[in-house]
Amino acid sequence: MPRVSALEADNSDPCLQVTQIPASVTAPSLAEDAQAGLLTAPRSLPPKYLYDAVGAQLFEDITQTPEYYPTRSELALLEAHGDDILAASGASQIIELGSGSSRKTRALLAKAAAGTAYWPFDVSEQMLVDSARELRADFPQIPVHALVGDYTAGLAGVAQVLPASGRRLVLFLGGTMGNFEPAEAAAFMQALRPVLRPGDSLLLGVDRHKDSAVLEAAYNDAAGVTAAFNLNVLRVLNRELDANFDVAAFTHRSVYDAEAMQIEMHLIAKQAQVVRLGELDTHIDLAAGEVIRTEVSRKFDQPRLEALLAEAGLGLQQLWTTPEPHAYSLALAQVI
Ligand code: SAH
Ligand code: AVI
Repeated sequence: MPRVSALEADNSDPCLQVTQIPASVTAPSLAEDAQAGLLTAPRSLPPKYLYDAVGAQLFEDITQTPEYYPTRSELALLEAHGDDILAASGASQIIELGSGSSRKTRALLAKAAAGTAYWPFDVSEQMLVDSARELRADFPQIPVHALVGDYTAGLAGVAQVLPASGRRLVLFLGGTMGNFEPAEAAAFMQALRPVLRPGDSLLLGVDRHKDSAVLEAAYNDAAGVTAAFNLNVLRVLNRELDANFDVAAFTHRSVYDAEAMQIEMHLIAKQAQVVRLGELDTHIDLAAGEVIRTEVSRKFDQPRLEALLAEAGLGLQQLWTTPEPHAYSLALAQVI
């Protein structure tokens, strides 16, 4: 069962609740993901490990870099179309998956009707709780029910804690859907089905396929913030798996595969090295130039988007897109 955490007990605000959402399907542990992904080439890790407290803050810093346009493009769309989105959804429950700082969501919350409650869900508890407190201070009329958990394993738990009455608007913003591999995206859309009932809506933010130069600049910012975000995952492995990655022995690089329509974030070994994975009682032999893929970020055209929505039994209602060169879309879809 979902568990209300101790944070609730020492909080004097009855309209701020923090609930731990347990995994309802078995999610692999970091040790299992490392075992499956790191020991043999091509080496990779799921992107959720990028978001410890340091990584979550570094992602926020990425959104402020001049090259990383998705956040600014999406905010412009939310500001321009927030009223239409809220009116079309008729929602009294706004649920946000991977809410992070909820910074852009403020554009919607500022326009939400009386009686609307906000349910942010994120794996990064510190960022979630800090943001929930700030939202309560700035939007005292909106109760906040913060949900801590893994959205690849906890959507059934989310469906259990939401009130049965009232329309739902589920937000999945920032292009985070693009961080799933195609099979994972399909499974995620299937898992959304118990959360979204007939008449409920999904607002999905997706980045668009575009010129490689624009994308590669956005994911290789000149100030090196994305590099720091990527390299931080090695510290996560050192801490959680008793590993001994030398962070200075790796470089960051993001490359766009235009055919697959995905940008990949890589860590590249500067020289041959042997790295201990104490928790797994093993080690990794890396050759100079070897790559660990830490994230894919898939980009969308309209056919790819509509195929994805269909996986959750959703029909596209409205699509708003910012102009080139920073094209980014918000798709409003409804259960059909
Ligand atoms: N939606 C925000 C944040 C995007 S960053 C925006 O648009 O700016 C991605 C967010 O998803 C981070 O806050 C990260 O902690 C969260 N996240 C990543 N993997 C997750 C998972 N498996 N379960 C829950 N949250 C996850
Ligand atoms: C959270 N996610 C949508 C970001 C993206 O653009 O894929 C994460 C990110 N990776 C590098 N920069 C930003």
